Amino acid sequence: MDLTLSDEHRQLRELARRFTDERIVPHATRWDRDEAIDRDLVPALGQVGFLGLGIDETYGGSGGDNLAYCLVLEEIARGDSAVRGIISVSLGLVAKSIAKHGTEEQKQRWLPGLTAGAELGCFALTEPGTGSDAGSLATKATKTGNGWVINGRKVFITNGTWADVALVFARTGGPGPKGVSAFLVPTGQEGFTATEIKGKLGMRGQATAEITLDDVHVGDDALLSEEGFKLAMGALDKGRMSVAAGCVGAARGALEAALAYAKEREQFGKPIAAFQLVQELLADMAVETDAARLLTWRVADLADRNLPFGTEASMAKLFASEAAVKVANNAIQVFGGYGYIDEYPVGKYLRDARVTTLYEGTSQIQKLLIGRALTGINAFV
Ligand code: CAA
Repeated sequence: MDLTLSDEHRQLRELARRFTDERIVPHATRWDRDEAIDRDLVPALGQVGFLGLGIDETYGGSGGDNLAYCLVLEEIARGDSAVRGIISVSLGLVAKSIAKHGTEEQKQRWLPGLTAGAELGCFALTEPGTGSDAGSLATKATKTGNGWVINGRKVFITNGTWADVALVFARTGGPGPKGVSAFLVPTGQEGFTATEIKGKLGMRGQATAEITLDDVHVGDDALLSEEGFKLAMGALDKGRMSVAAGCVGAARGALEAALAYAKEREQFGKPIAAFQLVQELLADMAVETDAARLLTWRVADLADRNLPFGTEASMAKLFASEAAVKVANNAIQVFGGYGYIDEYPVGKYLRDARVTTLYEGTSQIQKLLIGRALTGINAFV
């Protein structure tokens, strides 16, 4: 599928394609088996500008609009969704939150390192007891003379063990979303412990962690916003667009692999692509992938025109994540038994896609957000 793109967008997409084919595709299976990407990929992503998209050049960013960001993430996720996730979190959730809400000092401190890939960020919202109900989080920040002491636990934190800065959401006021503030916590701080969660079904190349904050002292300059919940929700609106873009890439990768295999694999004396039932599988995959991309690009277009896009981001994330699971599952059907072993890429596409219907808001949460926007009735109260 193609729509009118500017020359700049096309060139950027071509750059991302080449980068993915050269630096990601040849290694993705090994990273998946080893449960870690080669860490030198992170500065390489920074060097090519993919960790600075949408960030001002003053802070080391590479500029570009939301569509540019989606084009790059689609290509990267075609190679490895785990790498897409590293970018979505460090750039999309953390660096962009600092760029939007940070003081000049906070921007100077963190953005050049994050955009260069010399440092990574993680987004510490989810807790063992609060996933969907993020506004009830229990991590607490207590005011001291010249700063804060933070105590609590976070779980399922992408980049958790690799991050240099954690965007930590902690309670500074009363119960509910209003009492939550956002802090930029250097992960080297005493009392900050991150433990990697091993044995994930997918996204195995990225480090997912459980984080404990045990009397972590930070200065007043660590406070990013006293309206931490709103900051988190705003970041997740864009985050959902980026997850959707990644799902489009994973779905496209699965479709391309299945197409190539169907033309090459022969049964009953002809390529299996000649069978109508295989063509039906492929056709469904192509339609789902293109529909997901169009919904995702609509979000980027709205955001680029400074129009509200939250509900559309929920729609795109809901559709694209479910589509990526279906498309990857169909790809396995086309591959038959070969789809069930990791010598071929399609099993990984399914395992990686599976988490996208869970994180950054489950499919059920997206439906309730869309329902709330449609009806004006809030299911969460
Ligand atoms: N932008 C800005 N402000 C927003 C907002 C948005 N998108 N959404 C809500 N707010 C504001 C509201 O206006 C409200 O402010 P006022 O009181 O001043 O009106 C305030 O925030 C509270 O909003 P809600 O009443 O909607 O709060 P809620 O508790 O009912 O929220 C929820 C319910 C929408 C389900 C929310 O908790 C939610 O999105 N849950 C899912 C959490 C999630 O996506 N977690 C992902 C974890 S991060 C992750 O996965 C990253 C990773 O590592 C991969």
